[in-house]
Amino acid sequence: MEFQDIVRKRRMIRNYADRPVDPTVVDRMLANAVRAPSAGFSQGWAFLVLDRPEDLDRFWACTAPQDEDDWLRGMRTAPVLIVPLSHKAAYLERYAQPDKGWTDRDEARWPVPYWDIDTGMASLLILQTAVDEGLGACFFGVPPDRIPAFRAEFGVPDGYTPIGAITVGHRTDDLGAVGSPTKRARRPVDDVVHRGDW
Ligand SMILES: Cc1cc2nc3c(=O)[nH]c(=O)nc-3n(C[C@H](O)[C@H](O)[C@H](O)COP(=O)(O)O)c2cc1C
Repeated sequence: MEFQDIVRKRRMIRNYADRPVDPTVVDRMLANAVRAPSAGFSQGWAFLVLDRPEDLDRFWACTAPQDEDDWLRGMRTAPVLIVPLSHKAAYLERYAQPDKGWTDRDEARWPVPYWDIDTGMASLLILQTAVDEGLGACFFGVPPDRIPAFRAEFGVPDGYTPIGAITVGHRTDDLGAVGSPTKRARRPVDDVVHRGDW
């Protein structure tokens, strides 16, 4: 698919067909994810892949709200879920190396959390690969109060933080719960771009 089509066609899909996803496609998503840029080439990311119904049930049981709504009903139809996790310590360690020299490992040196940014860039590559494969995907948040339960359920070490989760599956005509774009307009380029001065 043309790159411009991938960018244009990518939308968050919140409902999926009852059809498995070819595991080699998931492998391609992950192979593309690790092509993302990362500060100092720290690559402080990890990806938990869930593609067995019992594992997906475990995910939803420990992260989802109690009351099932249209959003959750749709999202639960996804046959694959990828949880991108950021690893802050990998950055603090990497930047303490001689070529960077931040041996105090002071987090105040970081203008923004690059570990989350880089994992987000990897996540976008997963979303874009899904589009290229003719699939749908949705990045969504994991509520902070569910993260300890999620870590415990899947044996995730404390230093790894899920920056969200990504459902993946085949699209249907029903895109699922409506997202914010039905209620909000895309901001025009001229509203957000400042040239020369603000
Ligand atoms: C960091 C981030 C968090 C998001 N969290 C959620 C979420 O919790 N639930 C959800 O349904 N969509 C979530 N979205 C999807 C956004 O609602 C969606 O990207 C936005 O409305 C624009 O729509 P589009 O991606 O289909 O163009 C999230 C997107 C991002 C980038």
